[in-house]
Amino acid sequence: MPMNRVYIKTYGCQMNERDSNAVAAMLRGKGYSVIDNEQDADVILLNTCSVRDQAEQKAIGKAGHLMKRKHKNPNFIVGVMGCMAQNRGEALLDSLPDLDLVIGTQKFHRVPDHLSNMIDTMQGQGPRPESIVDLAEELDSQNTIKAHLNDKPQITAFVSIMQGCNMKCAYCIVPKTRGVERARPMEAIVEEIEELATKGTREITLLGQIVNQYGIREFPFVDKKSPFVQLLEKVHAIEGIERIRFTSPHPIGFKDDLIKCYASMPKLCEYLHFPMQSGSDRILKAMRRPYSIEKFRSIIDKIRMVRPDMYISTDIIVGFPGETDEDFELTRKHFEEIGFDMAYLFKYSVRPDTTAEPLGDPVTKAQKEHRNQVLLEILAKNSLKRNESLVDKIENVLFEGPAKKGEDMFVGRTRGNRVVIVKANQRLVGQLVPVRFSRVTANTLYGDLVLEGVESEMEAITL
Ligand code: SAH
Ligand code: SF4
Ligand code: F3S
Repeated sequence: MPMNRVYIKTYGCQMNERDSNAVAAMLRGKGYSVIDNEQDADVILLNTCSVRDQAEQKAIGKAGHLMKRKHKNPNFIVGVMGCMAQNRGEALLDSLPDLDLVIGTQKFHRVPDHLSNMIDTMQGQGPRPESIVDLAEELDSQNTIKAHLNDKPQITAFVSIMQGCNMKCAYCIVPKTRGVERARPMEAIVEEIEELATKGTREITLLGQIVNQYGIREFPFVDKKSPFVQLLEKVHAIEGIERIRFTSPHPIGFKDDLIKCYASMPKLCEYLHFPMQSGSDRILKAMRRPYSIEKFRSIIDKIRMVRPDMYISTDIIVGFPGETDEDFELTRKHFEEIGFDMAYLFKYSVRPDTTAEPLGDPVTKAQKEHRNQVLLEILAKNSLKRNESLVDKIENVLFEGPAKKGEDMFVGRTRGNRVVIVKANQRLVGQLVPVRFSRVTANTLYGDLVLEGVESEMEAITL
């Protein structure tokens, strides 16, 4: 009986999305079919996140649910990979003894082999095969990534340029789940992006935990330019790539050489995700984030001098242990004054083996909820104001595909990373097309294609 239909469910950040894509590409290369429909799958892989307890609980709940399906059909395979697999390891089998695969963050490239071994053993008539647990560190695992080049055309693609993190932010589990920081060689990254570009990729997001620290130990500065800026220059020169983004940068190492890129690189989008975490210096210190709020804001000011129309988003944690009303008031004040266009607002969650773990979780749930709401309201107002300023304006939109709802509706993004929904045509997917915005919400822009003066190919389109 063939058992080749795999469904991958991804939790967590863009790095996980990229890793899932890579695993999918490898599996397709081995003859598996990676499907979008969970019900028809012979194999389900959960690519998990550990950053907050809730993220882990979601995946554990899902895995528990899938065990019922496995009891009805013993040949059904369930695997857990990624950060939670790395974090919890073998202990996952205590509560989920029938889990077939537990694969850590440095072992994604081993998934096809482990899966085929599991299937082979299952198809022999013996007893249920033992669960496979593979969590070991792997030297050079950052370079196994290049073999993961996606086989399906992607309009916009994530490219991991490094793995791991050497910082010690007090709240954060990522250094534990992703290991020490390792950079990929520049040439390998450039090669990967060149290949993506020839297959139709127009937009690249470079990924790293502190992306602007890329290669800081491995590669030298050249003409006072950091390795990250050198890489940006190389990526900028690649024909076919129209837009460049990166995430997440950190204030350390966000120097003038990088700020200057916003003046010299037209492909570098006027969108920056720049995690602030807190507006209180006292809390930043307790979080072991090595910058002051003044330093953080001075970087934003400098960038806005170069690109006044910059869109800036951030990450904030509310309710870190010891965060008083006064501390939160500082976060609120700076959050409002900076005027973020987008933000991910998190309620503090205690993580095992972090330096903040012994501090417990003294800020109450209600306080966290309140602080979260205060920031959400500011954000909604800001975001709407920014979007309203775009009504009647025309901007290029990179179309990514059909919208979830609505006949002939397509979704794309502006350079500022605003989501746009427009009546369009499949032929525009992968293209940069001018759109005039007519109606906006805090999260979405709606409008019409501007067809005058557009290349002839597009004029031919009848809507
Ligand atoms: N490397 C990135 C962050 C990656 S984790 C950086 O340093 O900016 C993504 C976000 O999750 C963090 O920015 C932080 O806001 C949030 N986060 C991390 N650990 C958390 C925790 N224990 N509780 C709540 N939010 C957390
Ligand atoms: Fe976590 Fe800090 Fe590293 Fe970001 S920089 S991944 S928050 S330890
Ligand atoms: Fe990403 Fe979550 Fe791991 S945020 S790095 S998937 S812990």
